[in-house]
Amino acid sequence: MDYTTKIANTTFDHLFINAAGVYCQTAEQLDQIQEAEAVAAVMTKSATAELRLGNQEPRYAAFPDQHNTINSMGLPNLGLDYYLNYVLKSHLKRPTIFSVVGLSQTEIVANLKKLQASNYTGLAELNLSCPNVPGEPQIAYDFQTTDEILKQVFAFYDKPLGIKLPPYFDLAHFDQIAKILNRYPLAYVNSINSVGNGLVIDPKTDKVVMRPKDGFGGLGGAQIKATALANVRALRLRLRPEIKMIGTGGVTCGRDVFDHLLCGADLVSVGSQLAIEGPTVFARLEKELEAIFTEKQITSLDQVCGKLKIF
Ligand code: SIN
Repeated sequence: MDYTTKIANTTFDHLFINAAGVYCQTAEQLDQIQEAEAVAAVMTKSATAELRLGNQEPRYAAFPDQHNTINSMGLPNLGLDYYLNYVLKSHLKRPTIFSVVGLSQTEIVANLKKLQASNYTGLAELNLSCPNVPGEPQIAYDFQTTDEILKQVFAFYDKPLGIKLPPYFDLAHFDQIAKILNRYPLAYVNSINSVGNGLVIDPKTDKVVMRPKDGFGGLGGAQIKATALANVRALRLRLRPEIKMIGTGGVTCGRDVFDHLLCGADLVSVGSQLAIEGPTVFARLEKELEAIFTEKQITSLDQVCGKLKIF
């Protein structure tokens, strides 16, 4: 299968990227991803201006079924300069996507100004959806602030930029966020971040499984697939066709990838299953997807992407 896909100035020859989640913090992890088979691009951990330790441990747990997770990482990262240094390295095998975050509007703008002034010309992603910073709301649930940030950013940022959204649950919210996003020259929308503020209890101890936020954290893995598909589908139907989509959430097997494609994803990102299985997950997913294509006699991505059938 020819997986060639283009978003803005970047051409990808596979479908899979890592989510800016729990397995992309260090150069070692990023190197492992870019060396892995079937990888389209390497996404850096969402960077704040300075190094950030994130929340106290334990802050991540995989469920016994090995297909679901909860995390409250709290954006631990090595700082913007560290990831800038990484993506500017000349020997990288794969394209990169530079994930940027900020704990205030001022920090977001300052971080993107730094990226704008740098030699980095690849894709960047603005993370407006982390549920795990104590005391901080998920920005993209506040439509007015999201609009203000995008207005401020696109007044100076002229390199390709995508946005990472939280899940929405009301059709009215899809209408509202799409109306805002359609006003800006976004390269893509990445949907969804983890489903915020779930709670998992260990039956052996009757205790929450994570320390930060008294156990509340972002859910990932199989349990969020239906929500992720609904978000990709609902946004694909509402966004301008030039805005590409990265589908994230609930990808544990080839069929999950196929479903994201049906809903309109151009690339598919993997968070929980990457943390559980490691970077060999991408080759397994591609192999399982190929088997589905063969069985259904599908020879081109155009036959699948956005082709979900309804009654
Ligand atoms: C985290 O660092 O808390 C996870 C990543 C995110 O939710 O954006």
